[in-house]
Amino acid sequence: MFNAETLCLRMNIDIDLVPKDERKEKPTDVLQVAFGTVFSDHMFSMRHTDGDWKDVRIHPYGPLLLSPAAQILHYAQGIFEGMKAYRRGDRVLLFRPEMNFKRLKASAERMVMPTIEIDFALHSLMELLKIDSEWVPEVLGSSLYIRPTMIATEPKLGVRPSKEYLYYVILSPVGPYFKEGFAPVKIYVSDKYVRAVKGGTGAAKASGNYAASLLAGTDAARVGYSQVLWLDAHERKWIEEVGTMNLFVRFDDEVVTPPLGGSILPGVTRDSVLTLVKDYGLTPTERMISIDEIIEGISSGKVKEIFGCGTAAIIAPVGSLWYKDTPHEVSDGQTGELTQRLFDDLIGIQSGELEDPHDWVVPVE
Ligand code: COI
Repeated sequence: MFNAETLCLRMNIDIDLVPKDERKEKPTDVLQVAFGTVFSDHMFSMRHTDGDWKDVRIHPYGPLLLSPAAQILHYAQGIFEGMKAYRRGDRVLLFRPEMNFKRLKASAERMVMPTIEIDFALHSLMELLKIDSEWVPEVLGSSLYIRPTMIATEPKLGVRPSKEYLYYVILSPVGPYFKEGFAPVKIYVSDKYVRAVKGGTGAAKASGNYAASLLAGTDAARVGYSQVLWLDAHERKWIEEVGTMNLFVRFDDEVVTPPLGGSILPGVTRDSVLTLVKDYGLTPTERMISIDEIIEGISSGKVKEIFGCGTAAIIAPVGSLWYKDTPHEVSDGQTGELTQRLFDDLIGIQSGELEDPHDWVVPVE
């Protein structure tokens, strides 16, 4: 088994700190800060060349020096993760971080990029969090969002995997992801554009997936909707995921989410919801769900609630679906009972306020 300490001896982290009196002001009301717009004092970075990670550093947060020919800028060979750190008094807590670093590894393999040992990724994150621990906010519903990122940096316009990479981690104090807060969000079902196909990069957290999703987002915005629900690429019939979240539908007592078939992102929150729903004595099912089943279920009353889940969004109630030029109100536009319970339990466990029966929380130490 890999031992983080051994690797750290081999990969010493050089530390260059911002002098205390030059550190940035922290937001006075983090719940009002637009998601991902404020960053902490330090970042972690390391470079990969000649088959090895090197220049392993924690240093002041700041711009990157990149060649205009860097491959990430032309061919989008880039991946990222999203995680959060929570404060409980003096303690800083992470939620299932190994799952994120495992997914980072899987994304790297899909995008022909070098991988990072999970233990080292976690150890280096913890070192960064110890240095910027004052940036982890305390107020309920807030956290320090963590963005591990890997990009191809070789300056070369030929299309092939880069020979140089940069991995870095930045930290951003955040409140709710949506401007609606925990109020129900309105979701636009796109039957025109698709996000991913089986065999494509949909299951990887690849930067280009998000660029490809933006045009459908403008269709949604045109009718006052904030997120896009993607259908499968072949039949435009089966629901897949929402732009920044996995989706769950409660049909009476069956709680359903689409199966991970290669085109859907394997969400850490999705996995946690499946477990919690089972704890509640309900039946979580991973099966294909057609958009027609949902629309019919909304009319018949069989659809009791719909919610999205993800690291940034946590749990987001869905109040309305826009499909084929028609809005369909879900749960009378209110937050459903299960959605509320999952939200309360998840933030309770993540912030250390509730018992953690599945050992999901990892203290930073
Ligand atoms: C996350 O939930 O962390 C995500 O990656 C969504 C993000 C693109 C805001």
